[in-house]
Amino acid sequence: MTLRLVETALEGARQAGAEVEVVDLASLRIHDCKGCGACYKTGRCPQDDDFGYVMGRIAAADGVVLGSPAYFDSVTPRMMTLMDRMSDAIHCQRLRGRYGCSVCPAGTGGEGRVVGYMNGFLVACGASVTGGTGAALGSDPGAIDRAAEAAHAMGMDLAAAIREKRVYPDQADRHRAIMKWLRCRIVANKEPWAHDYFYWAQQGWLLSD
Ligand SMILES: Cc1cc2nc3c(=O)[nH]c(=O)nc-3n(C[C@H](O)[C@H](O)[C@H](O)COP(=O)(O)O)c2cc1C
Repeated sequence: MTLRLVETALEGARQAGAEVEVVDLASLRIHDCKGCGACYKTGRCPQDDDFGYVMGRIAAADGVVLGSPAYFDSVTPRMMTLMDRMSDAIHCQRLRGRYGCSVCPAGTGGEGRVVGYMNGFLVACGASVTGGTGAALGSDPGAIDRAAEAAHAMGMDLAAAIREKRVYPDQADRHRAIMKWLRCRIVANKEPWAHDYFYWAQQGWLLSD
């Protein structure tokens, strides 16, 4: 059901003029984050797996649709592992100027919380969130078709937001607050987070508020 909602959202984006691509985490090998901090120091993770490929596809995109079923009121371990491995993408705000949205099918409920969780992650990476679609499918045979319709509209709107470079003032405030907090952390950790410090200096983000 998750793949159906992701593919339907992408079909909406495609019909609105975007080039689209599905990256299915279930077919990839992404190891757990070891918390070693090497990415903060060097800009790359020393683990040899498919993370670099996924991060490359995300970094090359103007927009991203995250999808996960509700597992115990949260995302799946696979999605959580991807998010953990992307902590340097938060430090370096790799999705700044990009757009995103999320889809979540659930059995009995909690889909709104899971969509909110994934969207919160996108904002933490610097992206602007354009929407979210979730549905509890358990006892309602029509729910998946309604969710697919909403996902299609959401995909079209994602492509429109990218095209218009849409601004979301409340999210811009949140981005500024995240940047302020990150600036303090990166300056305080100049040596262990040498790559992040260098990247922030290159971007001219260390001085301005
Ligand atoms: C391990 C596991 C945990 C789940 N936890 C929840 C949950 O907390 N709330 C819920 O409504 N559904 C839960 N479900 C049901 C799934 O979210 C639901 O069946 C979803 O449609 C599966 O998506 P998929 O078809 O893409 O795998 C759980 C399913 C599994 C296998």
